[in-house]
Amino acid sequence: MSAVPKAGVMGWPVKHSLSPALHGHWLKRYGIDGTYEAWPVRPEELPDALRRLRDEGCRGTNLTVPHKETAMALVDAVDETARRIGAVNTLVLRDDGTLAATNTDAYGLVENIRAAAPDAVSGNFGGRAAVILGAGGAARAAVVGLADLGVREIRIVNRTLERAQALTGLGGDSDTHAVDWDERATALSDAGLLVNTTTLGMDGQPTLDIGLSELPGDAVVNDIVYAPLETPLLAAARARGNPVVDGLGMLLHQARAGFRAWFGVDPQVDDELRAAVLAARDQA
Ligand code: ATR
Repeated sequence: MSAVPKAGVMGWPVKHSLSPALHGHWLKRYGIDGTYEAWPVRPEELPDALRRLRDEGCRGTNLTVPHKETAMALVDAVDETARRIGAVNTLVLRDDGTLAATNTDAYGLVENIRAAAPDAVSGNFGGRAAVILGAGGAARAAVVGLADLGVREIRIVNRTLERAQALTGLGGDSDTHAVDWDERATALSDAGLLVNTTTLGMDGQPTLDIGLSELPGDAVVNDIVYAPLETPLLAAARARGNPVVDGLGMLLHQARAGFRAWFGVDPQVDDELRAAVLAARDQA
């Protein structure tokens, strides 16, 4: 293993990744002599890139689009959470030279909501339902994270109903079902949490069109979109008094496990880190 601990993020494209700014901030803050780089890796180059990672004694890597699913077949071990989500985002080179993979997105999503609304999380959202909009990779992580938290009921609302139906098996002991997109406003009735995992509301994408009148006034609203930070959904929820949680914290919290494994420090998510990552986002 190289003397100076080294990790990075593999993606294609990868130049817009905020992970180098995030981990770079932590390395500086904790005075660690290590590096975290952005590694552009084409889909067909991933097997070679992972071999090099081992040969060069890197501590590990994050994976982003388009490698999160394909890497599962290229590593030595995939933990149960990642298997359930069906994707990996954090690889750690173990002392015996094998590569272990996990997915920290479910943890990131839940810890972000916990940091902003601790009482709602410890009170299990008043025993009420969680509504998840979307059925892509982020929605899979949300279902797994919320099911593991013990949320009583999970409603997955998606434009393509079959994709939502395909996720209901991930809900563990939670009563999990798919809801038609046309029913999205009524699906909010009696809910304790609303999470948007669709791309709607992101800069350059259409706005998420959803009436909130059925949503209880104390339900937590979380958007995983973080560009802009205050999406139209969060602005509308805030205006009617709902507690809101923006999406940047999910990115920050999901990064903690990788940093801890590679660099040996459990890093903190705080305002300074948020500011550093937002500055990098605005330069990208
Ligand atoms: P990721 O894996 O990052 O979560 P994804 O798989 O591209 O992303 O999923 C994007 C989500 O946004 C999907 O749930 C998608 O709905 P479909 O499954 O029907 O495609 C949703 N989405 C994107 N554009 C949408 C739109 N105009 N209206 C409603 N939902 C939309």
